[in-house]
Amino acid sequence: MEILNSQIEKHYHQPNLYDDIINRLKELEVDLNSVTRKDIAGVDEFHVRGAEVSRELAKIVNINNSRLLDIGCGIGGPCRMLADEFNCDAVGIDISKEYVATASRLSELVGLNHKTKFIYADATNLPFQDNEFEVVWTQHVQVNISDKLKFYSEIDRVLKNNGVFIYYEVFKKGNKGVNYPLPWADESRISFLEQSSRIDSILQELGLVKKQSTNQTDSGIKVLEKMLDRITTWGAPRLGLNVLMGASTKDKITNLLNGLKEGQIYLESGVYERQK
Ligand SMILES: C[S@@+](CC[C@H](N)C(=O)[O-])C[C@H]1O[C@@H](n2cnc3c(N)ncnc32)[C@H](O)[C@@H]1O
Repeated sequence: MEILNSQIEKHYHQPNLYDDIINRLKELEVDLNSVTRKDIAGVDEFHVRGAEVSRELAKIVNINNSRLLDIGCGIGGPCRMLADEFNCDAVGIDISKEYVATASRLSELVGLNHKTKFIYADATNLPFQDNEFEVVWTQHVQVNISDKLKFYSEIDRVLKNNGVFIYYEVFKKGNKGVNYPLPWADESRISFLEQSSRIDSILQELGLVKKQSTNQTDSGIKVLEKMLDRITTWGAPRLGLNVLMGASTKDKITNLLNGLKEGQIYLESGVYERQK
């Protein structure tokens, strides 16, 4: 597991990420004394459709004022949005030390460090007591998780009774392969695509009850097409997800888009409730 985690951490690693973001903000002539969430919105939500989809998910059930855990929080954009717009007390965990440090510093930069906290930890071994959170949230993370049962058991364990689990993920359809690189993996050894029906069985076995699910593929395709078109026409933006995806950004988006269009993979979000 340690080898796998360090391969995943290496995949996401971008050296001096925080300083890179700061330098790009300077190039965009943003006043560093008054940086807002909007200024960093292009880079700080690392999933298809960024803050727009996070906001939609947060409105499906009432999560206002909740103590919330974001598993695989990246550089913290979703936690900041949930803290700022939904008054959540948001904790994020991630196995990338660079991401956790960057997440904390970005929260400080935009004045949200009192409502967000970021911890270096493995999703399959959460450093929390049982029943700690009212909401557990995860976006585009289980694609890197080989031990699905452990991952979802930990989610179940830390959720309070009647707490909600909210996910937004990439799933596989059938057994046709995908092309790499993809945003979450340069090669298949750190990619663990699964069908949502298998995940649903695991969650049901654990006692979580499905409240709803939404196929997000079409809206994802539209946004990815726009992104690709923009990069092809104008080059990568100053402060977009290219900062996190590096030199292979265009290939990663192309492969993801083709996989979604050709139907090897699909995007789905949903909500479960812990009823024990
Ligand atoms: C595609 S990024 C998504 C980041 C974030 N959820 C977002 O939407 O902005 C996937 C994240 O999952 C994290 N991750 C992968 N495997 C993990 C594990 N076993 N434990 C904790 N985090 C993990 C990665 O480090 C990365 O930050």
